[in-house]
Amino acid sequence: MPKKLKTMVDISMDVYKDFAYLYYAGPYVYSENMAKFLPRILNKFETKPQTLLDVACGDGRFSVMMAQQGMAVTGVDASKQMLHFAKERARKANVDIDFVCQEMQHLSTKKKYDLVTCWFDSLNYLLTKSELLKTFRTISKHLNGDGLFIFDMNTIYSLSIRWRERNLWIEVDTNTIFEAHHGYEYNPRKKIATLKITGFVKRGKLWRRIVEVHRERGYTLSEIREGLKKAGLRDLACWGNIRRMTRPTRKSGRFWFVTQHK
Ligand SMILES: C[S@@+](CC[C@H](N)C(=O)[O-])C[C@H]1O[C@@H](n2cnc3c(N)ncnc32)[C@H](O)[C@@H]1O
Repeated sequence: MPKKLKTMVDISMDVYKDFAYLYYAGPYVYSENMAKFLPRILNKFETKPQTLLDVACGDGRFSVMMAQQGMAVTGVDASKQMLHFAKERARKANVDIDFVCQEMQHLSTKKKYDLVTCWFDSLNYLLTKSELLKTFRTISKHLNGDGLFIFDMNTIYSLSIRWRERNLWIEVDTNTIFEAHHGYEYNPRKKIATLKITGFVKRGKLWRRIVEVHRERGYTLSEIREGLKKAGLRDLACWGNIRRMTRPTRKSGRFWFVTQHK
């Protein structure tokens, strides 16, 4: 059994509450793919991190995979419901991970790490440049001297064009779970996309309805770089395609950044 599974601070968020169950049970395996790409990235930058801070760790998929590979892992997320499933996953995998319930803008684990990650749109949940900067600054403080901070972000192109093409989208449709994404709106001035998630989960003979409204903000490459610079970070790499490790284009759906202290 894991020795310690703890939650430090209890905070409230209006998303990833009941939806956490759908996330855990659903097809959200993006971070598993990131775990597969990570060795190539680490080889490219000739580093072998021993400690990991997984920011917005969600239901712990990536954190657990890294702990299984021998890293000492701390997972941080603002949703106590997501962390509930992260702990469940760690318990089943018999790995010891520190899970901390904190907002990434106010992150404080009082430790430094060789590697910090933040996967799968999590930074897009920060809806202002100042929140993004605050987050980059706190992450920078948690990074060891030559440590790497690797993250991805949804692009403005993805939020304004690709998301619109997916309205209405059935994400899951099984005998026990139904999940649809709909009600898409995009505010070009604020660069914020809004999406409604409606789900149904079968418990016994009854279906329970889950509704959450998710908002993500897109940032330009120069806004991201400006934030990184102010936080004392520089990008070692910026890709629009992680498989090929190629530069972003106008139609990239996602940016991946590998960053380090200046
Ligand atoms: C799309 S999920 C990604 C989870 C995980 N990284 C993965 O790849 O599966 C986004 C996560 O960001 C978390 N999140 C959103 N805003 C946050 C904030 N301000 N501070 C910490 N976590 C946040 C949510 O609770 C959720 O777990």
